Amino acid sequence: MFISIDGIDGTGKTTQLKRLADYLVASGCDVCLTREPGGTPAGVAIRSILLDKHSDISPTTELLLFCADRAEHQRKIADALGAGQVVLCDRFLSSTIAYQIYGRGFEKPEMLEYITKNTVTLFPDITIILDLPVDVSIKRSLARLNNIGSSVSEGRFESESKAFFERVRAGFMDYAKKYNAVVLDASGNEDDVFNAIKRCVDGLFG
Ligand code: TYD
Repeated sequence: MFISIDGIDGTGKTTQLKRLADYLVASGCDVCLTREPGGTPAGVAIRSILLDKHSDISPTTELLLFCADRAEHQRKIADALGAGQVVLCDRFLSSTIAYQIYGRGFEKPEMLEYITKNTVTLFPDITIILDLPVDVSIKRSLARLNNIGSSVSEGRFESESKAFFERVRAGFMDYAKKYNAVVLDASGNEDDVFNAIKRCVDGLFG
């Protein structure tokens, strides 16, 4: 079973994924909790370029780096699924479509399609998209960035405009319609959001 959780910044997906991992382990599953970008050693290096607020990279380079991270990550996902683990992935292809194609307005979406077709064979059994109004999302993600402090230079995406995140949010909604992802309202309290996620996942396991 391969489950991905996605959504604009600040939806709490990382916290929810940790809770879901604990829940599945307590139910007897062997779990591989991973993320994009940065789920492999090469991915960690790629992530630092992508998120560093001092990185001056073109939209094409950005797209290619997210794709390279994903291509490398596929090997780890294949190994985990092969070993019978449940893979829980923090972000996946839905993010590249929402952020690079909708958010950045990348002009050659066919390039992403071509690379994906040739590098990705393992897709999530279910994608859960946590949805939040953009104002709330920006407030939460900037607060998180302040909390982790100045020791990390992440923040390239957090400095994007409200209009950028509106496009990203619309991208996630279009993705959900096209590929049957589950959209959950993430504006409620943590327990309510977790219970909604748990219901989806319990449904999957029958
Ligand atoms: P993440 O570590 O999940 O950040 P957060 O915990 O704040 O949600 O993701 C890092 C950033 O990378 C996030 O702003 C979204 C962006 N991103 C893309 O633009 N495209 C992609 O394909 C992926 C996977 C992430």
